[in-house]
Amino acid sequence: MAMNWTPDSWRNFPVVQVPDYEDKAKLQSVESQLAGYPPLVFAGEARKLKRKLARVAEGKGFLLQGGDCAESFAEHSADNIRDFFRVFLQMSVVLTFAGGQPVVKVGRIAGQFAKPRSSPTEVVDGVELPIYRGDIVNGAEATLEARRPDPERQIMAYRQSAATLNLLRAFAQGGYANLEHVHKWTLDFLKDSPAYERYQEISDRITEAVGFMRACGINSDTAPQLRSTDFFTSHEALLLGYEQALTRVDSTSGDWYATSGHMLWIGDRTRQPDHAHVEFMRGIKNPIGLKCGPSLKADELIRLIDTLNPENEPGRLTLIARFGADKVEKHLPDLIRAVKREGKVVVWSCAPMHGNTVKSTSGYKTRPFEAVLGEVRRFMGVHQAEGTHAGGIHVEMTGKDVTECTGGLRALRDEDLNDRYHTFCDPRLNAAQALELSFLVAEEIKKEMASRPKTDDEDIVEAAE
Ligand code: PEP
Ligand code: CO
Repeated sequence: MAMNWTPDSWRNFPVVQVPDYEDKAKLQSVESQLAGYPPLVFAGEARKLKRKLARVAEGKGFLLQGGDCAESFAEHSADNIRDFFRVFLQMSVVLTFAGGQPVVKVGRIAGQFAKPRSSPTEVVDGVELPIYRGDIVNGAEATLEARRPDPERQIMAYRQSAATLNLLRAFAQGGYANLEHVHKWTLDFLKDSPAYERYQEISDRITEAVGFMRACGINSDTAPQLRSTDFFTSHEALLLGYEQALTRVDSTSGDWYATSGHMLWIGDRTRQPDHAHVEFMRGIKNPIGLKCGPSLKADELIRLIDTLNPENEPGRLTLIARFGADKVEKHLPDLIRAVKREGKVVVWSCAPMHGNTVKSTSGYKTRPFEAVLGEVRRFMGVHQAEGTHAGGIHVEMTGKDVTECTGGLRALRDEDLNDRYHTFCDPRLNAAQALELSFLVAEEIKKEMASRPKTDDEDIVEAAE
């Protein structure tokens, strides 16, 4: 167990990016209600994810992490969740097919509600308002009333997370993810996308392989791996009072686990080594992520790794690089070398969104798809040059046909952003762009695989896990 740590020890440390609740009594009552509610996820599931990530850290597998920038109370529908899940499955099929390695599927979902912001206030029509911090904190509407942080929202976020997770579990385990249905995951509006045809080719080959296996007596009744998949949840552990309330002792191991999601991460704005967020995260046993942006120096990273993963446990720590297409080659090699030199075991993942945000001429916050692809390509290139495993991607995406990021095979222009710009926070890849990105990543994975020395010990059983 972490030394001198308790679920509330973070309260003795400086903290940034937390809302200022006026009604402290109400906040306390909400936190104690939450502390009495059932866990959303179980320690055994978090350990399973950690084992899978440990394999990725060894170079055997790939992490696919993605979902909304921020989930919203208003857009909580079964259709949204299903469409996201379908595209996510499609991406994962493309990646599995490319590398012949397991893809670890982790959604930014069922808890991704709290947002760090660059400024605590904003001026709208001459009025200074508290900034919107995500639906778990306040409302996005530009009024003083909506922007007042309301503790009750934490209860709503908990309940929405539970309902979302319930549906995701049903999709993942209840037959929807059956590989025999690989053709059915396609979304209607994707049919005129160039990525669609490439996906059809892959799904034809999978269907052929599944048919062959069926003829040999292997089908979804005899091989449950065909019928269901492991899907995990994740979010940024920003609102520490909420996280503390859902942190529980696991009766099997006696360890503390956050039960709000399987994997939690520390944002780029809250990774100060001597602050509250790092303090909280060091004590929970879940697999965790750490966002690494341009201001992170190699020695600071090593210090953070020592604090967050003192035993160098494989699968515990995923480093999520988010530099920007034009900065990744400048910053990433130093960090990779320091990690290698110190013998630290990590998963390296690429978040190609946050360093590539620009303001479009039409005034929208957008991300050029070419920059997103560029960051991934360079991230993978750096790893190939350093001889390390590019272990994953972390993307903001949706299963809907939104117009938030420019570019892609359908060539969305600045002028198109206004059509379906629906995000409550950062611009997301739409379904076609997300699928297209997975094809590019697949190509890069193939390059990495081709450059590896052949070994006999590739563990086929593990690949099917
Ligand atoms: C995010 O993932 O939405 C986010 C705010 O990322 P970062 O901490 O990398 O800026
Ligand atoms: Co974001």
